[in-house]
Formats: sequence, structure tokens, C-alpha cells
Amino acid sequence: MNLKDCYNFEDFRKLAKKKLPAPIFHYIDGGADDEVTLKRNTDSFNDCDLVPNILTSVGKPDISTTVFGRKIDMPLFLSPTAMQSLYNPEGDKASARAAEKFNTFYSMSTMASFSIEEIANVSSGPKLFQLYIHKDKSITDDLIERCARANFDGMCITVDTLVAGNRERDHRTGFTTPPKFTLDSLLSFVMRPAWVFNYFTNKKFELANIKNKTEKGTNIAKSVMEYINEQYDPAMNWKDAEYCIKKWNKPMALKGVMSVEDAKRAIDIGCTAIMISNHGGRQLDGSRSPFDQLKAISDAVGDKLELILDGGIRRGTHVLKALAAGATACSFGKMFLFSLGAGGQAGVEKVLQNMYDEINRNMVLMGCKNLKELNKTKIIYRK
Ligand code: LAC
Repeated sequence: MNLKDCYNFEDFRKLAKKKLPAPIFHYIDGGADDEVTLKRNTDSFNDCDLVPNILTSVGKPDISTTVFGRKIDMPLFLSPTAMQSLYNPEGDKASARAAEKFNTFYSMSTMASFSIEEIANVSSGPKLFQLYIHKDKSITDDLIERCARANFDGMCITVDTLVAGNRERDHRTGFTTPPKFTLDSLLSFVMRPAWVFNYFTNKKFELANIKNKTEKGTNIAKSVMEYINEQYDPAMNWKDAEYCIKKWNKPMALKGVMSVEDAKRAIDIGCTAIMISNHGGRQLDGSRSPFDQLKAISDAVGDKLELILDGGIRRGTHVLKALAAGATACSFGKMFLFSLGAGGQAGVEKVLQNMYDEINRNMVLMGCKNLKELNKTKIIYRK
């Protein structure tokens, strides 16, 4: 199996599983506790149906949209995800370059393995930075200032990770950053010599954005959960978010908003967008899926905020359903990370091309000329 045989989520996942050592594969693939929310994130799209219109002279649809002040050529972008160099040595560079080719957003995690400056040097495409509010407030300030200098378009503050979710797969596999070779996982590393070779012959693993600010998580083999619990501020509040929004003074989202009430409050503190997300089912298991919450949030605040649906996206039709229910755009994590693990930059380009084609094809089949026409009349909920 190789990249050209990858048509869908499962294909990319299978290929990534072959190439990545087990602890790394499961770090992407897993969720919190019983993974109920992880599963629901995708299943929820099946509780409604698209209703096409016919004979609309649709021709070639326009699937562009505008988020974070930037026009993008497709209504789907790369969610911020940590430590991408574990999946491919080019990591964030590969993702950023691929996203730029499709003129859509690459998003950088605070825990990225390349720095804000390194990525600004390789891509002038749309760029979003994901901010974790650290206990040490000088780290947060420093990240905001550097993103401004590097001309990132937007930022999002992750608000659903005050403490780490209970990711039992990571406990079992002994996943740490940098990876630790334990007796249990050794075989899965030995069986993937290409990954091991790349790991030892490329740039040393580091959390590039914060390496000069804290030793922790960079030089010490830590689990991600330990890192989050040590470094992030579990007491962060609306005032902290407002402080960051004012300091940034450019398009800003909260990532992890799930309630109508919080969406309204995001407007009050100056957000231009929210990312409706439960962190890919990796935090609060039993949380509702973003898609299940989308319509209510859109009915309440859809005319005042850009709504990004983040979670569960595996098909172009999922994007269409989200847009019909009121999203401005969608973002996805797991699927593009598998494509990165499966084939580096070419893999990410392949998954974006697949999704671009799926979205376009299904817009034609829906009889919609542009995303405005893909409105709430185009979707019916079964119950
Ligand atoms: C995760 C954090 C690091 O989901 O965003 O693993």
C-alpha cells in the first residue's frame, strides 16, 4: 500500500500505522477514557442528511471562504497539533508547505517541533497560532509577541486543556516526549527502521517555541499529560483570555468552546471566531460532539462570529453538513496527521487534494454554486 492508494481516512490511518512506532501512532489515534466522544465526533454527522436541489446551473462551485481575515480556497484547514516531527522529520514544515499550496490555514501548536520563526520562513500562506496559557505568564507574552513579528494571521487560545485528559493508550504504550524506548515498545521501533533512522539523523526533537523558556518537556522524557499538568494554568479564566486578545489585537478565537453561553461571552471579550471543539475527544470523554452543538451555537451567534467546526471530519460531506448547519469553515487533526505520517508533505497534499475534490464534487451534487447557498435549508436532522 502507498499514498496513491489512499482514498479515505482508513487508508491514511492504515499506512501511518505501518510506518509509525506504536506509541506514536496511538498518540494520534487515541482519545480520553473510553473514547466515547472520539467516536461520537464522527458518528454525529450521520444523524442528519443533505437535501440537494436540482437543475441549478451549478457549473464549477466557489468553495472559498474567509476566516481570521484571510480568504482561503477551501473551507477546511489543518488543526493545530503538537510535535509533528514525530510523524515525519519535516513535521510542521511539511504541513505548512502543503497548506500553502492549497491556500488554506496551517495551524501551529504551542508544542510544535519547529519554531514560529522557522515556519514563517518557509511559508507565506495563511497561518494560525494555537496558544496555551502557561503558569509562567512571560511564556504566553513571548509567544504572542513573536507571532505578531512573524506576521501570523490569527491566533486561538485552547480553553479545554486546563489539565490533561486521561489517555489510557499513552499510559499503556509509555508515550513520552522525546520518545523513550521502553522494553514494551522496543519491538515496534525495531520493526520501523526507516522511522528510527529519520529520528536519529534529523534535527533533535524539541518543543521549539518554548525551548529557551523552560527545560521541561524539551530535554526530559516526559509524558504529554505530565507536561500539560506541570506547565499550563488550570486557573486560567475569562480575564486571562481577554488579556491575550487585547495584546494580540488581530483575529482571535477560543478553541474548545462548546456551549451557547460561552460562545456569547467570547463575543463580549473581543473574539472574532470560536473553534467548536472537544480537542478531538482527547480531553473530556462524554462531552457532546462539536457537530451536535453547532446548530444551536450558529442560531445564537452565527452572524457575529466565525464558527470553526473542529472534530470528527473524515469526508467532504462532513464539511458540507457542518457548513449547512452554520459553520464558516472546518478544521481537522487526526486525518491530516495520518497523512503526514504516511507520506510527509506529499501525504498532506494528497489528503487536502482528496478533500478538495470531495467538497467540490459534493457541492455540484448538492446544486450549490457557493457556500452561501449551502444553508440550513439543505440539511435535515432525523430526530
Ligand atoms: C494533545 C495536546 C498536546 O492533544 O494538544 O495531545
